[in-house]
Amino acid sequence: MQLNDKIAIVTGASGGIGKSFSKLLIEKGATVYGLARRSEKLEEIRDMFGNRFRPVVMDVTDPDAIDNWVNETFSREHQPDILVNNAGVASFGNVDELSIDAWHQMMETNVDGVFYLTRQIVPLMKRNPEVCHIINISSVAGLLGNPKISAYNATKFAIRGLSEALFKELRYDGIKVSCMFPGSIATDFFDNANAGGTHPNMMHPDDVGKTLIHLLETPDNFLINEVTMRPLNPKPPEERD
Ligand SMILES: NC(=O)c1ccc[n+]([C@@H]2O[C@H](COP(=O)([O-])OP(=O)(O)OC[C@H]3O[C@@H](n4cnc5c(N)ncnc54)[C@H](OP(=O)(O)O)[C@@H]3O)[C@@H](O)[C@H]2O)c1
Repeated sequence: MQLNDKIAIVTGASGGIGKSFSKLLIEKGATVYGLARRSEKLEEIRDMFGNRFRPVVMDVTDPDAIDNWVNETFSREHQPDILVNNAGVASFGNVDELSIDAWHQMMETNVDGVFYLTRQIVPLMKRNPEVCHIINISSVAGLLGNPKISAYNATKFAIRGLSEALFKELRYDGIKVSCMFPGSIATDFFDNANAGGTHPNMMHPDDVGKTLIHLLETPDNFLINEVTMRPLNPKPPEERD
């Protein structure tokens, strides 16, 4: 896909890799609807990136708000070409310490939210004569289970299954579906998950973003449906083997 003048939707655009995806898409000439809950962060990003960043205050766990926004924003003359389902939260801890609220917040944001938006965007993409692309952000936690992240694992495994099914379901409608499985990235994610801070050996959001751009820019009949990316050395610099 040639990205100039394309219309993209990026969830979780108020920080982390979603902000980086938005910046790189805008640099390529796309318009980005950036969805997140924190309006002040979205406004700051619009001030930084310019008017091709369209802030949308949205909680992806609210299906009615999503339905209304999609119906008000898009039409046959103004169709989305790209959907990046990126918004996600984590709460780390042993299963017997995990609250029911934390479980539901992860499930509703990381899984239900992806369904709520995708089900509204797919019909528009089916009508779009150009090839469209949905990219779902899973995690290496969508490939490997590990202690203290069982609920997060469950949500990210779900995204792998959803992505694989949709890739097969939508390929003949001219809609690509890819799933990205990143390892640790230096964002606020770890603070938000109460999992400690970041360290310099984590991946940089822009490097993950460049991989997203590469997936999008592939020729129309060429699909990279899954990609795993990791820091070569994932340990903090002060830790030795
Ligand atoms: N960082 C990592 O090491 C890592 C590794 C693998 C995969 N991932 C995945 O990458 C994605 C982005 O994470 P990140 O590292 O960029 O984390 P981050 O900096 O914490 O960003 C998370 C984003 O999700 C948004 N968000 C959270 N709940 C939302 C909701 N209910 N509705 C709308 N937006 C919501 C947040 O915005 P608001 O708070 O403004 O709503 C924020 O923009 C997540 O799916 C995460 O699971 C991260």
